Amino acid sequence: MKNEWTQAWLAYEKREEKGNGAYFASVAVNGFDTENVVVQSALKELKKGIKGMLDAEPMMADKATFVMKKDFALNAEGYTLTETDGVLTLAAGGENGLLYGVFEVLRRIAMEKSLQGVSVNAAPDCPLRMLNHWDNMDNSIERGYSGESFFFEDNEVVVNDRTVDYARLAASVGINGVVINNVNVKQAASYLITDRYYAKVAEMAKVFADYGIKFFMSLNYASTIEIGGMNSADPLDPEVISWWEKKIAECYANIPNLGGFLVKADSEGRPGPFTYGRTQADGANMLADIIKPYGGIIIWRCFVYNCQQDWRDYKTDRARAGYDNFIEMDGDYHENVILQIKNGPMDFQIREPISPLLGGLKKTNQMLEVQVAQEYTGHQIDVCYLMPMFKEVLDFKTYCSEKNDCVKDIISGKTLGNTNTGIAAVINTGNDKNWTGNDLAAANFYGFGRLGFDTELSSEEIAEEWIRLTFGNDPQVIEKVMGILLPSRATYEKYTSPLGIGWMVTPHVHYGCSVDGYEYSRWGTYHRADHLGIGVDRSHNGTGYALQYHEPNASMYDSMETCPEELLLFFHHVPYTYVLKSGKTLIQHIYDTHFEGVEEVEKMIAAWESLKEKIAPEVYDNVSERFGRQLTNAREWRDQVNSYFYRKSGIPDEKGRQIW
Ligand code: GCU
Repeated sequence: MKNEWTQAWLAYEKREEKGNGAYFASVAVNGFDTENVVVQSALKELKKGIKGMLDAEPMMADKATFVMKKDFALNAEGYTLTETDGVLTLAAGGENGLLYGVFEVLRRIAMEKSLQGVSVNAAPDCPLRMLNHWDNMDNSIERGYSGESFFFEDNEVVVNDRTVDYARLAASVGINGVVINNVNVKQAASYLITDRYYAKVAEMAKVFADYGIKFFMSLNYASTIEIGGMNSADPLDPEVISWWEKKIAECYANIPNLGGFLVKADSEGRPGPFTYGRTQADGANMLADIIKPYGGIIIWRCFVYNCQQDWRDYKTDRARAGYDNFIEMDGDYHENVILQIKNGPMDFQIREPISPLLGGLKKTNQMLEVQVAQEYTGHQIDVCYLMPMFKEVLDFKTYCSEKNDCVKDIISGKTLGNTNTGIAAVINTGNDKNWTGNDLAAANFYGFGRLGFDTELSSEEIAEEWIRLTFGNDPQVIEKVMGILLPSRATYEKYTSPLGIGWMVTPHVHYGCSVDGYEYSRWGTYHRADHLGIGVDRSHNGTGYALQYHEPNASMYDSMETCPEELLLFFHHVPYTYVLKSGKTLIQHIYDTHFEGVEEVEKMIAAWESLKEKIAPEVYDNVSERFGRQLTNAREWRDQVNSYFYRKSGIPDEKGRQIW
């Protein structure tokens, strides 16, 4: 276990005072129990931040310049922050609100913004804001690109100061739920819900509780078989039900802060209710009914598809699977079940349409799942700031109702008036010293939390906050790092797979180019390129996937003319000679974007190099080394993709550039 780690954006280094110091001479807490663990965390954090950034020691006093008080009228996780006549007042509806308000105060100080006249009224948009870890108990992390797990080591649960700092980082951006283990629950992890691990698990849950974070675990759906010694996991079997009743009672007796469980069933080799001829709703509801008296919830993933399916009939389509498997049972899921839906219908590609299940389901609690871990977006070697992508997802209009029909409305509960909703990210942390492998990848962890709390924040605002908190307030650093982060997703898209077709990755690894690659390509390539064109016909003539959307989205995607061009190849099989709105042919677009992508990486590198004197050497070197690998990766993608399509189509580059 590596035992050195940074404070990331909570480094609390010295800041210009900007008149802020005076407020923290004396501090009062009214209406909150100062013995409460979350209140204590808030006070500890305040002290630490003020000491580090302003070199002052706040003193508790009855008549104070910084007053924290309870306001029952506010949302339990909301707060207001106001300043009048030299007194700063943080009013919060509950302990979490108080903690988030303190982090807002510290953020403003870190950004060297004056608190004078401040007037903020904040409450989280998404009720649940969760981090999903894919950590395995043998230390490894499925799709982890920043070292090994800091939760598990050699099949033991690890709780130490790093766990505390992690909880602080998460809470500072408004996270209120964490799943500590991989959705693929194998071997030892099945035993997390047994006496073998309860004591340690409870200790870890307590660390998160101190920061207002509910504790969740991924569950092996077939636990009755794996650890119960039974031979069935049929959700309607009374013996299975009674086993779970005892098990869940035992879990709550041992782990009071347990929020519930996350389940991946019937997918990629995982067991599930389909084995017994039962539905996903049968499985989810069985667990939900049992956990309900404890206030727990069951988060059930919709990533259910048959990875071995034969699609040569051009009707079978993996993209259809989520919707086809879940739509019919809309309304059958019990109140404490949440369906967790990946942002796209495939699997976290650099460009995918929004899953038609989001908003397709009209009577079911929904939670959006995004991937901050850069499985298909550069492994935290390549810079890929994901907020622009997440914003597109949140702002997508589903037409599921007359108003409040965007994805952000569905997951905030505005559409259906429900509270068991939210957002989850497969997170990108590991035991690397800087937590996220590439230092710049921390912007995605930071940004995910901030966006879940306030879905209206822009990608720019989030990037700027993160840069100021992490690197300080030097305008040149802000400008250059913004210039690197903001276009980085578009750049990555340019040098990898074009116009929404996705994949083309090295099988299993998912980093680096392999045009015909990807492990589930047994029945043909995912891009369906031939000598005339490329893309998958998902219109009514093809797999019919486009029709899974509400109108007018269905018609928009169904027609090649109205389909947004960035998704053209996802929805249509298009000739290389097809002329795009830019006036370029499809093949020329492929060539041009691949050359441009590499040039843009070169520019990013130059921007980073211009900051050499202003960035701590360790961070500078870390990012530089990764940029070197990103450039190699981008060149390889460019050359492989361009030469592949040149050979397939026989059409040369109009600009006569060398295609290898
Ligand atoms: C992808 C990923 C797997 C993961 C799966 C999931 O397929 O490659 O590692 O288990 O998604 O989300 O369950």
